[in-house]
Amino acid sequence: MALLDEIKAKAASLKKTIVLCEGEDKRVVEAAAQITKEGIAKIVLIGNEEEAKRVAPGVDLTGITLIDPLTSEKTAEYAKILYEARKAKGMTEEQAAQQAKDRTMFGALMLKAGDVDGYVSGACHSTANTLRPGLQVVKTAPGIKTVSSCFIMIAPAPNKYNPDGVAVFADCAINIEPDAQQLADIAVSSAKTAKAIAGIEPRVAMLSFSTKGSGNDDKFFKSVPKVQEATALAKEMAPDLALDGEFQFDAAVAPEVGELKAPGSKVAGHANVFVFPNINAGNIGYKIAQRFGGYMAIGPVCQGFAKPLNDLSRGCNVDDIVATVAVTALQAE
Ligand SMILES: CC(C)(COP(=O)(O)OP(=O)(O)OC[C@H]1O[C@@H](n2cnc3c(N)ncnc32)[C@H](O)[C@@H]1OP(=O)(O)O)[C@@H](O)C(=O)NCCC(=O)NCCS
Repeated sequence: MALLDEIKAKAASLKKTIVLCEGEDKRVVEAAAQITKEGIAKIVLIGNEEEAKRVAPGVDLTGITLIDPLTSEKTAEYAKILYEARKAKGMTEEQAAQQAKDRTMFGALMLKAGDVDGYVSGACHSTANTLRPGLQVVKTAPGIKTVSSCFIMIAPAPNKYNPDGVAVFADCAINIEPDAQQLADIAVSSAKTAKAIAGIEPRVAMLSFSTKGSGNDDKFFKSVPKVQEATALAKEMAPDLALDGEFQFDAAVAPEVGELKAPGSKVAGHANVFVFPNINAGNIGYKIAQRFGGYMAIGPVCQGFAKPLNDLSRGCNVDDIVATVAVTALQAE
């Protein structure tokens, strides 16, 4: 897939250092070796040599830095960082000393301390356990209050409605029922990801079952006014961004429908970044594109963190880990 090759090549040129937190997982150790061999990033693997050789016999660990939080001289320093970040939430110094030894937390603290440029975990931990250390210590980027995610959707071939051959769908994986402000944050972050990772000039559609007031659900969930408010907030946050809504999907991608239903909109009919009103719509939508449309989905790519931090699916394979590390390196640029 050409875009993925471009992402890996760009990552290689950046020479970023990425921490992989799960040295106990065979796929992670194998991915660490492949990334190092291909020069996609410098890898810090949390674990120890004996364990890595046991779970992935025969793998060449040359060039990989292994760190074990149980023996590292950095653990005490990181515990102090954790204590400072969480004392207002009631964390004691003893609790911080204990939690800093946890591999995912240790990885997040390495990122916070600036000792690595990006963090990838989640091959054998849940999304909540993977992202929580990041949410607690790395926190959000300036101007953004919501960590969210998107999928970079690669078309099997460019088509009439997606001439770029690439689109961004958000948020399909983290925020379950975002409010208007969270939806606006998702839109602004997704535009940034579209540019930085997918390499496209973003035109953001705020999706709904209504186009410019054509429908309402006042008796039910009031999702139309939510998307309208989110559109206004996102325009305030990023006045130079091509963003509009609310749009039905056809009004967002089909020029003839866009002109009819949203005359004068620069985005209608030409959108390439799609912000869904909630996780149900987003998750179902990306899977329809994947299964019926033959799109390849890269992600979920986490966005909105102050520093790049990504979550793997527990069903991931070595190639997925390699791709996620490359994306993370680009986010660190
Ligand atoms: C993101 C998610 C993992 C966080 O879960 P969690 O750890 O239980 O979150 P908590 O509510 O305990 O919050 C922990 C901290 O993160 C913050 N936080 C939680 N979600 C956040 C978000 N999306 N953006 C920014 N901060 C967030 C909280 O405010 C809290 O901060 P504090 O402790 O400093 O006050 C949760 O939203 C989730 O499980 N989402 C759905 C994931 C899922 O099932 N996806 C399906 C896979 S396809």
